[in-house]
Amino acid sequence: MSEWDPREVGDDQTRTYDALRERCPVAYSETQGWSLLRHADVLAALHDPVTFSSRVSTHVAVPNGMDGAEHAAFRAVVDRCFTPQRVAEFAPDLRRIAESLVVDLSAAGQPVEVMTALGEPYAAQAQCAYLGWPPAVAEALRAWAVDSQRATRERDRAGLDRVAAHFDRIIVAELDRARAQAPSAPRTLTHQLLDERVDGRPLTDEELVSIVRNWTAGELGTISAAVGIIVEFLARNPDVRARLRAGPDGLRQAAIDEMLRLEAPLVTNRRRATRPVHVADRVIPSDAPVTILWPAVQRDPAVFAEPTEFRLDRDAAGNLLYGRGPHYCPGEGLSRLELGIVLDTLLAAKPAFRLAGEPVRASAPAGGFAEVQITWSQPEDGA
Ligand code: HEM
Repeated sequence: MSEWDPREVGDDQTRTYDALRERCPVAYSETQGWSLLRHADVLAALHDPVTFSSRVSTHVAVPNGMDGAEHAAFRAVVDRCFTPQRVAEFAPDLRRIAESLVVDLSAAGQPVEVMTALGEPYAAQAQCAYLGWPPAVAEALRAWAVDSQRATRERDRAGLDRVAAHFDRIIVAELDRARAQAPSAPRTLTHQLLDERVDGRPLTDEELVSIVRNWTAGELGTISAAVGIIVEFLARNPDVRARLRAGPDGLRQAAIDEMLRLEAPLVTNRRRATRPVHVADRVIPSDAPVTILWPAVQRDPAVFAEPTEFRLDRDAAGNLLYGRGPHYCPGEGLSRLELGIVLDTLLAAKPAFRLAGEPVRASAPAGGFAEVQITWSQPEDGA
């Protein structure tokens, strides 16, 4: 019988998970199975992929739904997309995208909604530019992400099948476009993916589409939520904004990690127990679904003193923002670059802004905010 209902977490899911972690740190529900809410339990699970398998579905999920040697082979393909050199070379493109979006934000005094005007288009355009796709595909990806989150939230099976088929069509069209290009055309990351081999054979379209689906979740789900969380926090905290504007890049990165610890942009990841396993005082049965609840883990008072306070002097080792173990986020370097550049661009062009009304929080499976309205002001009346 369920000990909580993940569909009934109220307007502020993060606070609900905080309370649940203290009451029931390994909590059973029909929809999520066994949810893990404590930092220590999740860390142990992340480092024990044999007991906590990532093979949670019969659908192909590359590389997030794979284990062991199969995961390592496909993960190597993904890692080759995110080498430090490739990520660093992308910085000028990202600056261009961030600057054009920030310039287009509304004039001083007019409210603007950050998720639609900045978070979502920034993530979608960054993904398309990184993969070498035309900017128009960004709009199709945004529309897909909205449909996909709605269908997941409403547990609409037919809707989920429809949006999955729609996503396949968008991505296969881009694969075919790259295949059809002349050999003399500039080589993009999509060409690199098409040339990859696993066990001596090229990847199937189904595997390539799945890689891009994982990627799109990282960008349109997590990066776009992260932008909303950062802007909301800085609108509320002009003192931090001023400190970051004057401070070095390292300070901005530490601040981003701490803002995203306080409000997690990613809510859940799944596992499956492969044997009966003791966690806290519970026994999770073999073959049972397990859910990691990142917002609860990242505010666990056993690891973070005064967990709901923004502090820049925390030990970075405790922050599980990008996960741990074999499924550790391969997009971390790109993500740090994207978030650092959008923050720098914003602070340089629009140093003073405030909330225009109460933000609307997103509901699971989305993290962060559904809506953040802000107003720019001139620096002298804004800070
Ligand atoms: C703020 C931004 C991001 C956060 C907080 C984040 C967080 C995470 C976490 C916690 C995991 C581990 C999941 C697990 O253990 O099951 C993960 C995996 C992954 N992330 Fe990210 N991510 C971010 C951005 C990105 C971006 C930008 C990309 C790609 C462009 C990306 C691609 C992936 C992929 C492919 C995996 C699966 C890795 C595997 O299973 O081996 N992420 N991410």
